[in-house]
Parts: sequence; C-alpha cells; structure tokens
Amino acid sequence: MRICILGATGLVGRESIDLVARAWPAAELSLFASRDQTLEHGGKSWDVRGAASLEQADAPRGDLALVALDDDHSARYVPRLLELGYRVVDKSNTYRGDPNVPLVTAAVNSHRVDAEVRLVANPNCTTIPFALAMAPLLRRFGLEAATVSTYQAVSGAGIGPLDEFLADAKRGYAEADRLGRPFDAGKYAGNTVPHNGKTDDGGFSAEERKLMFESRKILEHQALAISAQCCRVAVAVGHYMNAWFTLRDAASVAEIEALLGDAASAPFVRFLPGAAGEGLSARSCVDHRDRALAGRVRADARDASGRSHCITIAGDNLRLGAATNAVRIASRWYASADPELQSPT
Ligand SMILES: NC(=O)c1ccc[n+]([C@@H]2O[C@H](COP(=O)([O-])OP(=O)(O)OC[C@H]3O[C@@H](n4cnc5c(N)ncnc54)[C@H](OP(=O)(O)O)[C@@H]3O)[C@@H](O)[C@H]2O)c1
Repeated sequence: MRICILGATGLVGRESIDLVARAWPAAELSLFASRDQTLEHGGKSWDVRGAASLEQADAPRGDLALVALDDDHSARYVPRLLELGYRVVDKSNTYRGDPNVPLVTAAVNSHRVDAEVRLVANPNCTTIPFALAMAPLLRRFGLEAATVSTYQAVSGAGIGPLDEFLADAKRGYAEADRLGRPFDAGKYAGNTVPHNGKTDDGGFSAEERKLMFESRKILEHQALAISAQCCRVAVAVGHYMNAWFTLRDAASVAEIEALLGDAASAPFVRFLPGAAGEGLSARSCVDHRDRALAGRVRADARDASGRSHCITIAGDNLRLGAATNAVRIASRWYASADPELQSPT
C-alpha cells in the first residue's frame, strides 16, 4: 500500500505520520509540504518533497492520500491526487459543502465511505466530537435542537500561531501581574477571543457556520435546529464545548449517561460520569487523544418536559478532530491493523 501525506510538516500532518504507522505499518509512505526539506519527527529524519512535484508528469501514483493543507492548496492538489489514482481524505474546508463529497465522522456516518467513493471530506475539529456525542442521542431519543458554545485551543490555527502563542505565553506569565496586563489584548496568550474569521452578514464566523452546517450534514438531519458560538482560549491543544440540547422524546439524565457510557452505542466516546466533570478538561484530551470526552449531563431546568439537557464535550483537535478521524475514514477502504483506528461498519 502506497500512502502520501500532504502538509506532513504541519501539526496535523505530523500526527498523521504516527497514525499511519499504527494503522498500516507495512505501508510505503511519502511526505509532501511546501518545499523539499528534512523533517525531524518521532526520533527519525524524514525526506519531505515539495508538493509541486506531484504536478510533474512522472509523479508517483498511489493508493491513499491524507491531505492536511489549507483550503487553497487542497483545491490545487486534491484533483491531481485523484488523477494519480489516490483515494483522498481532505482535512480542509474545501470540499465539505460539496453535495457530491461525503463529509464523514467515523462511527457516525461511515456508511458513506464505500468502494466507489474516491474523495471524502474530514469535518471541522469541533464538529467531530460534537457529532460523536450527539449521534447516539439522535438514534435513541431523536434530536430536535442544540445550542453549542465552544472554547477552542490555539493549535486549531496551525503550527505558526501555536508557536507564537507558546512564546507569548512564556513571556506574559514571566511577569506576576494579577490582572494579566502583560498579554496583548488582541492575541491568544493569556486571553479569550472570538473565533472571528470570515464573519458573514449575520455576524457568525466561519467556524460557527461550519459547526452548524457540518452537524446537519453528518447527522443526516437537515431539520436540526442548531446554533453555535465559538471562541479561542489560551490552551495549546484540546477543544472544549458546552452544549444544550432538546430531544424529541423525554429521557432522564441516567438514561443519557447509560447510553453515552455504552461503547457499542457510543463508539469513540469516553463518557465520564458525575456532574462535577472529573477528568473532563481540555488538557485531558491529550491523555485520550482518539476519543471524544463527554460528561456533566444535567437536566436543563428551563424545560419541564424532561427533553432538554446540558452536556460538556471535549476532544483533541489535532488527533480525534483531524488526523485520527481521517485514518478511521480510510480504514473503510484499507483495514487498520490497530482496532482503535478501525471505523465500525
Ligand atoms: N490544526 C487543527 O486542529 C486542525 C483540525 C482539523 C482540520 N485542520 C485542517 O487541516 C489542515 C492543516 O492544518 P494544520 O493545523 O496542520 O496546519 P499547519 O500546522 O499550519 O501546517 C500547514 C502545512 O501546509 C504546508 N504548506 C504550506 N504552504 C504550502 C504550499 N505552498 N504547498 C504545499 N504545502 C504547503 C506546510 O508545509 P511547510 O512546513 O513546508 O510550510 C505544512 O505542512 C487545514 O486545512 C486545517 O484547517 C486543522
């Protein structure tokens, strides 16, 4: 099996290298980024080629491409990879809205990936944990509405902003100012800021629109009433969110907890019982990188019908929210040696 990773030097690309070794240890792996270079990763030196070489007539053909590039570069290289015979999982936003391209969260709508499909879009890093927690509820009780408020890690913006954040945080916290004034009011370190890219006429950011649009597409539930507000918090990795949801049928907190705690009903969810939320934090995500953490289920007192509840969900944005889900998607075409990375049928 011949696999290539585009964007191999980035945050998601590096995670993909590690996961390919777990899922398909015998695969022949080639790496691409902006230019020819050597990548030091996992105690090894990797040869990385400039992605433009894929446009040459003698570019290598292959079986599977995992693409972790920005939207414009995905639009440039994905058609070429398909032409070269690769099956492609693209992690950018480029193809998510295309009605002809399946948008897949493994174990939620994996059935969309069959032998005929050549290109699959990997969802946004908040949508994946949200969909994993909501899908069992939708199946068992019906889901009418959800309101989501996210607290997203800086690594979601890529390796450049993450490294700048780490340097700014080191400088800012070096000064013992009890009001946090050494931090720049417009930057990520020591701060919480709106996720404000590509705001539309209604005032919603691209991230908020993605969470709403993608949830409906993945859950195959266009009637879902959903609203989202997103912000970035001063955390390196781990997207955290609070959600309020209304079911079609009344369900008790105990019934919801039992459902989300059952691995067969809620694959890839690590349910943490108890309203206090012990073990449920952004930092905990990097100890359980391939699972959505869910807990703090509480009845929403505004709704006496017993259909509305609150929940907290978190997930490692680089792994569960990107690289892991992409490998699980591809496991529908090529079985994974590691069962944790195999998507159920
Ligand atoms: N970070 C997340 O949490 C997350 C989660 C879900 C989805 N995603 C999506 O995954 C994709 C990658 O995100 P990331 O966070 O890994 O980004 P990143 O850390 O900024 O990495 C970007 C990658 O793109 C490569 N690149 C830049 N310019 C290029 C060019 N002209 N030609 C070919 N390659 C080029 C870079 O290579 P060089 O090192 O050579 O510059 C690097 O490998 C994005 O679409 C993002 O939206 C990210």
